[in-house]
Amino acid sequence: MLTNRPRTKILVDGGDPNETLRIKNLIGFVDGQTTNPSLIAKNPEIQRLIASGHKLSSREEKEEYQKIVQSISPLVGDAGVSIEVFADLSTRAEEMLAQGQEMFSWIPNAYVKYPCTHEGLRAAQMSVEKSIRVNMTLCFSQKQAAAVYAATKGSKESVYVSPFVGRLDDRGEDGMELVRNIKEMYKHSDGHVHVLAASIRNVNHLLCAFALSSELATVPGKVLEDWAAIGFPMPDRDFRYRGVDTSGNLLKVIPYEKLDLNLPWESFDLAHELTTKGIKKFVADYQSTLKRSA
Ligand code: G3P
Repeated sequence: MLTNRPRTKILVDGGDPNETLRIKNLIGFVDGQTTNPSLIAKNPEIQRLIASGHKLSSREEKEEYQKIVQSISPLVGDAGVSIEVFADLSTRAEEMLAQGQEMFSWIPNAYVKYPCTHEGLRAAQMSVEKSIRVNMTLCFSQKQAAAVYAATKGSKESVYVSPFVGRLDDRGEDGMELVRNIKEMYKHSDGHVHVLAASIRNVNHLLCAFALSSELATVPGKVLEDWAAIGFPMPDRDFRYRGVDTSGNLLKVIPYEKLDLNLPWESFDLAHELTTKGIKKFVADYQSTLKRSA
């Protein structure tokens, strides 16, 4: 069990309550959980239903999602359980908000996940006005993180922004640099947005998230098991992260941008190819659970 608890809160990135329990027993605690449509599609119970030929309507899928987060909710600490709205590229903010309001009522410790798009930001702005906690997902640029800050200013609750490290690495850019840059940009902010390092693929990413003092990190069960297997090392003062791809080649540095957090959120360019791609993937994974059985 982990004795030296890191300052970075540890969330399980998954969609299976049994896995969360297993990790909790392994580490001794779990601060929170993040879910998304792809992870929910992989939930063993949903997979079993599909394999047995059971047809899931979108309503049943939502009920399953609710059951899953209700099982996870009491297992985790104060970082809560993030639940993602079902949104495609044309979903309007009002529709996301309606889903978010419902999802927020499922459990007492919910965070509603919206994408870092114009409509997602609009939904987030309306949500924080209603004291709905939000986690802004599919963040791939510092400009998106600046917009998250500006759109949710005044929120009484902490807001999460989730930079996706591994997916930037996948295309040769050093995803940990994005976490570093957002942390740097928020240094002189009011502190209402917390950085949640996401799309963590290995122990080295996790240690770097600790070293950068990311407030939170969401980590697949497998990576947490790998970390446990080597005795829960922590980065020391000499820790140096080297962003390399799977062949050991150095990843491209993402340069820091000087951005003014006091500008209106709509003034930031929110477009990012990986955000669009990520939404399409979530939609496809969600629909595959319906299609295969329809
Ligand atoms: O937390 C975000 C995560 O679920 C995405 O991870 O590995 O699909 O990029 P990945």
